[in-house]
Amino acid sequence: MGEALKPDFSPLPRHVAVIMDGNGRWAKQRGKNRLLGHEAGAESAREAVQACADWGVPNLTLYAFSRENWSRPRLEVEGLMHFLKRFLDTREEELVREGVRVRGIGRLADLPAGPLAALRRVEASTAQGQRLTLRLALSYGGRQEILDAAATLARRLAENPQAAPLTEADLRSALYDPEMPDPDLIVRTAGEQRLSNFLLWQASYAEFWFTEVLWPDFRRAHLLEALREYHGRTRRFGGVPTAEGTPA
Ligand code: IPE
Ligand code: IPE
Ligand code: MG
Repeated sequence: MGEALKPDFSPLPRHVAVIMDGNGRWAKQRGKNRLLGHEAGAESAREAVQACADWGVPNLTLYAFSRENWSRPRLEVEGLMHFLKRFLDTREEELVREGVRVRGIGRLADLPAGPLAALRRVEASTAQGQRLTLRLALSYGGRQEILDAAATLARRLAENPQAAPLTEADLRSALYDPEMPDPDLIVRTAGEQRLSNFLLWQASYAEFWFTEVLWPDFRRAHLLEALREYHGRTRRFGGVPTAEGTPA
């Protein structure tokens, strides 16, 4: 599949999260239907997954469908759901072989039965994957995630008032995937510089990398560029930088 050359940018981010944007504009530039942009975008997603697996980035999260995306025209939503299912159906074997563990995050119960069943099947068949955890954010909203967590915590507190006062760890334990580390690097394509309701809780100290490249044109080399730039950043987490670029 791809070249397995590892970039020498250690330490690599433990978690890269991508806001895959620009499929519609890519199609429009070519005088094509937006759905062809989404279809091409699925190929970029595959390439990003393989690159992270090859390079040793252990967590990749792809923002594939937001809660707000339900407001798009019905045919576009149906097309997106079709490509999601097709991705899961056609890539399942490859994901297993490559050691990729797939998980969905979001209000997954909102998904139509077909794509949801495919997701659950692939989550189960890839559960032993050791190289990369690929999280697909589907019907995902950061505010909804925090709201859902708050509701879970309120229930827990009602059952067990001794659990107060709540800690950050309590809230984390109620997120869609409590095992997910915070994103170190958030990439957004297609020129927009906003979160669009992505990982609001988890992004508090994420580094951001933006590119004008439209998602269907996004290749390994672009991801490598993002990793290179991340490598040169100094993360302070509110502290004072040490010589190694980590907080004292
Ligand atoms: C990203 O591309 C895919 C989804 C949001 C599902 P868009 O469809 O948002 O493409 P643009 O932003 O209209 O170009
Ligand atoms: C963000 O892209 C959602 C996904 C990439 C799935 P949008 O295209 O929906 O975001 P806005 O509307 O430009 O903020
Ligand atoms: Mg968009």
